[in-house]
Amino acid sequence: MMDLQSGMESLDPDSVKFSKLTDIEGIYLFKDTVEQWEVIHNFKARPDDLLICTYPKSGTTWMQEIVDMIQNGGDPEKCAWAPIYQRMPFIELCFPKPVPTGVEEAEAMPSPRTLKTHLPVHLLPPSFWEQNCKIIYVARNAKDNAVSYFHFHRMDNMIPDPGRWDEFLETFIAGKVMWGSWFDHVRGWWEAKDRHPILYLFYEDMKEDPAKEIQKVAHFLGTDLSEPVLNRIVQHTKFESMKTNPMANHRTLPSFIFDQTVSPFMRKGIVGDWKDHFTVAQSERLDNLCAQKLKGSSLTFRTQL
Ligand code: A3P
Repeated sequence: MMDLQSGMESLDPDSVKFSKLTDIEGIYLFKDTVEQWEVIHNFKARPDDLLICTYPKSGTTWMQEIVDMIQNGGDPEKCAWAPIYQRMPFIELCFPKPVPTGVEEAEAMPSPRTLKTHLPVHLLPPSFWEQNCKIIYVARNAKDNAVSYFHFHRMDNMIPDPGRWDEFLETFIAGKVMWGSWFDHVRGWWEAKDRHPILYLFYEDMKEDPAKEIQKVAHFLGTDLSEPVLNRIVQHTKFESMKTNPMANHRTLPSFIFDQTVSPFMRKGIVGDWKDHFTVAQSERLDNLCAQKLKGSSLTFRTQL
């Protein structure tokens, strides 16, 4: 099997360009993902799989690097064998042939595996529940998440062009974006955590006190980090380090997929960038929507530190 990196590099750029939205049960996903849906749905999780799950742009890559560092005893060399997207298969990712699919990559990987998904809770392949796999979920406040997703739409050629900010915000609110509604996603996984081994973390908490959140992850994985190892992980996974780390900053992806001259993958990495994008009216509208859609769930978000 060709590896993911060589596969992507061999692609005809036109074959990955966004063409049309396709969905599974109303959730927009890549065209190739929808075509392969049966295979993805029947994915065979193993009991010792760890799954990192997020709504897009809420700190997935950050959590992936943290987990890899914990699993490698805080040794950055051991985490540098491949770009992050190759170290942890993204189960619903499907490119045209000959690129291996996320499922194929996962199947070829020895246990214990760490996998990535953005699927909403109701679309997760059932074997993850049957095998009682550990899941780490990272959530980010809707405003910063929307801003980050807007800029991502500008630079990722596989997903639709976002249009103007105000237009994109409407699309985001309506959930007519890839992987569906932010509200349903964060709430669905929040409710699932009462029935499954899910560690539910927040981007804002990770920003405020990374050491504390990293130690939580370590405990969830059944280990305790010594002070020096913890400090090394904090340093290695801070925004400035990851921005210049070629194995984390996605600069290894062909530019016909991510055009980082338009907007870098490691863009700002802060809490509160929404203030530079939202009007007062847009901000109040999103506050009201959050209150309404998260009502009765005990789930709350911080939009500034
Ligand atoms: P911004 O666009 O707001 O900068 P994902 O990995 O889920 O795609 O999320 C990407 C977002 O997380 C981007 O947000 C990116 O800059 C931010 N990010 C990545 N690594 C980070 C880190 N180490 N610390 C803080 N934010 C990080």
